[in-house]
Amino acid sequence: MTIQTRTLGTTGPQVSALGLGCMGMSALYGDTDRAESLATIHAALEAGVTLLDTGDFYGMGHNELLIGEALRTAPAARREQALVSVKFGALRGPDGGWLGYDGRPEAVHNFAAYSLQRLGVDHIDVYRIARLDPAVPVEETVGAIAELVERGYVRHIGLSEVGADTVRRAAATAPIADLQIEYSLISRGIEAEILPVTRELGIGVTAYGVLSRGLISGHFTADRQLPANDFRALSPRFQGENLRHNLALVEALRKIAEQKGASVAQIAIAWVLARGEDIVPLVGARRRDRLTEALGALEVTLEAADLAAIEAAVPADAAAGERYPASQMAHLDSER
Ligand SMILES: NC(=O)c1ccc[n+]([C@@H]2O[C@H](COP(=O)([O-])OP(=O)(O)OC[C@H]3O[C@@H](n4cnc5c(N)ncnc54)[C@H](OP(=O)(O)O)[C@@H]3O)[C@@H](O)[C@H]2O)c1
Repeated sequence: MTIQTRTLGTTGPQVSALGLGCMGMSALYGDTDRAESLATIHAALEAGVTLLDTGDFYGMGHNELLIGEALRTAPAARREQALVSVKFGALRGPDGGWLGYDGRPEAVHNFAAYSLQRLGVDHIDVYRIARLDPAVPVEETVGAIAELVERGYVRHIGLSEVGADTVRRAAATAPIADLQIEYSLISRGIEAEILPVTRELGIGVTAYGVLSRGLISGHFTADRQLPANDFRALSPRFQGENLRHNLALVEALRKIAEQKGASVAQIAIAWVLARGEDIVPLVGARRRDRLTEALGALEVTLEAADLAAIEAAVPADAAAGERYPASQMAHLDSER
């Protein structure tokens, strides 16, 4: 099976129009199921998904080991098509605590050495620091990745959650394939300054949180109990009155989805797909049924009237609550 493809920027690789974000298979969204995670990655590869996204700090290496196992046990033809995008730089403690970011050149090389080993590959397709290290100029971090490109350990350089000025500085240092950043019907912050700059510079966008971490998937309910290790337990958008407000937006979206014969999640993903050929949504499906639903978004065509109805139902700044808790917002160069 093949699915539509898109190219990450003018220098990046061709990838499936939807990527699979594997984070939730190891961390941040509560309990995980290894067998179902592996089956989901295999089903994605079988369906023609070629882009797998991870971070070395998702479960402190767990996610890379999982992807490594999935690749090893996939049919050779599927494995060879797969492109792995890896984030590094977040420092974790043995208790899972978050200790900051390290973008020093020697740390970049060290992180890459461990990722290659855990993934069981000889190169990483797209490599990026998860958050800008405020103590290290972006030129140094990107320059270190460029050395890894020269030496064949990395194919392409990406960025994550950085603002327009940093995008320009990074792009002046080395070719940048894509910026990974949150973008959805209820997280439209990139439209004002960041997206015009990535477009000017020929840099693609891999959009994460297109379902706002499940909030606008149509499956999330107000009474869902979240374990303490679930990111959403602390996320402002999932709290009390904010949650009620945001779920009311989802109900408005549901009416449009029903008219289109699609699910809410499919409409939310299709909306991001419709924002431009330079954007590749990363969907965080953790189960095969969710993956099948997400892939169905590729079959949904949104006409101008549909887009207008969607934006009337969920206006650009309609969400209640920031997209991260304040302590984590502080690490977002993209929000400065
Ligand atoms: N660069 C960065 O800073 C950054 C930050 C966060 C994530 N990411 C990357 O982006 C990827 C996607 O992010 P995300 O997981 O937060 O995004 P998401 O796709 O907005 O949310 C995924 C969650 O939505 C729920 N969901 C419900 N229906 C779904 C469907 N049909 N398909 C997929 N998910 C559905 C799932 O919850 P249930 O399983 O409970 O149903 C899942 O845990 C991550 O895996 C990670 O690789 C990058």
